[in-house]
Amino acid sequence: MKFDIKKIVRPNIEILKAYSSAKDEYTGEANVLLDANENSLGSPLTKWYNRYPDPYQKKVKERLAFIKQIKSEQIFLGNGSDECIDNLFRTFCEPGKDNVIICPPTYPMYEVGANINNIEIKNAPLLPNFQLNVAHIEQLVNEQTKIIWICSPNNPTGNSLDRIDIETILNHFNGLVVVDEAYINFSKQKSFAQSLIDYPNLVVLQTLSKAWGLAGLRLGMAFASEEIIGYMNKVKAPYNISMVTQELALTALEEVGQVNDMIAHLVDMRIALAAVIEGMPFVEKVYPSDTNFLLVKIPKVPELYRYLLTQGIVVRDRSSLENCSDSVRITIGTEQENTLLIDAMAKWIEFTFTND
Ligand SMILES: Cc1ncc(COP(=O)(O)O)c(C=O)c1O
Repeated sequence: MKFDIKKIVRPNIEILKAYSSAKDEYTGEANVLLDANENSLGSPLTKWYNRYPDPYQKKVKERLAFIKQIKSEQIFLGNGSDECIDNLFRTFCEPGKDNVIICPPTYPMYEVGANINNIEIKNAPLLPNFQLNVAHIEQLVNEQTKIIWICSPNNPTGNSLDRIDIETILNHFNGLVVVDEAYINFSKQKSFAQSLIDYPNLVVLQTLSKAWGLAGLRLGMAFASEEIIGYMNKVKAPYNISMVTQELALTALEEVGQVNDMIAHLVDMRIALAAVIEGMPFVEKVYPSDTNFLLVKIPKVPELYRYLLTQGIVVRDRSSLENCSDSVRITIGTEQENTLLIDAMAKWIEFTFTND
């Protein structure tokens, strides 16, 4: 059976007459803007934020299209990739009827998004080596399965998923395969963004929140076929990306060189921090990471967490997640922050285990 997007999109979205904003309804240049009920006098901040932003973020998309070597029409921008995740549920999954497959432990927003939208979740946990269980995924697929969520490199395990496994799923599944690449810039793996031409059912998610250092700006990206992006555009709020975000993103996207330097620095610090933590007594494992964080297996994580907090250091206890018992996730900080963490962990280990 061939992939047919019309069988995947929700019927009500297929026939939806999308909101047409004031900005959608004229082309060309105009100086007297009396169409959108904005405040023509300006604002207390500047003279131009009184206007609504470009609903389709054309300039940002043109720049991204150049960087990613895809078409502007293959890009959807969201208020963080979290908006892209929610939009995919709302566009393609029928509440109370459809299901999606999630591979835990992974980014929790796939589960939250499914629950918000009343979509059944079928879990295909990662194997003990944190790779995909392709046979299990294939067993779970049925007529109502609309999306398989794959996170690579995966949060919180840090590893990249085997590309051949992802390709097998892309080749055999007739619904959407979303590959969330939030951490791809920290990995040596090739992005799937350049494989869109091969897979009409592929959606790639990326974000400015990680390698680009702009988590506060809230700009996430979905790359997919023009048809998929067209449906996502129908569902989004008219002006979902603010003018400030569009302007700052455009400026940031000029700085590819600086971002690459930061990525290299973060990767160097990750390697150094992993080596130090691995050498600490009682640390059972530092999992290999293709990201800007480490997953560390160590006994007594809740106590470690509480101790670090008393030192003003916050990490993430991931012990409750599937196959992650006794695991803490540590984001790579600045050189100084990593040193503070190392000193605090070393002190805690000495105190805790010598007094046991
Ligand atoms: C795998 C993954 N995807 C998406 C996100 C959310 O990204 P954004 O800040 O773009 O919403 C995160 C955030 O931690 C993440 O880990």
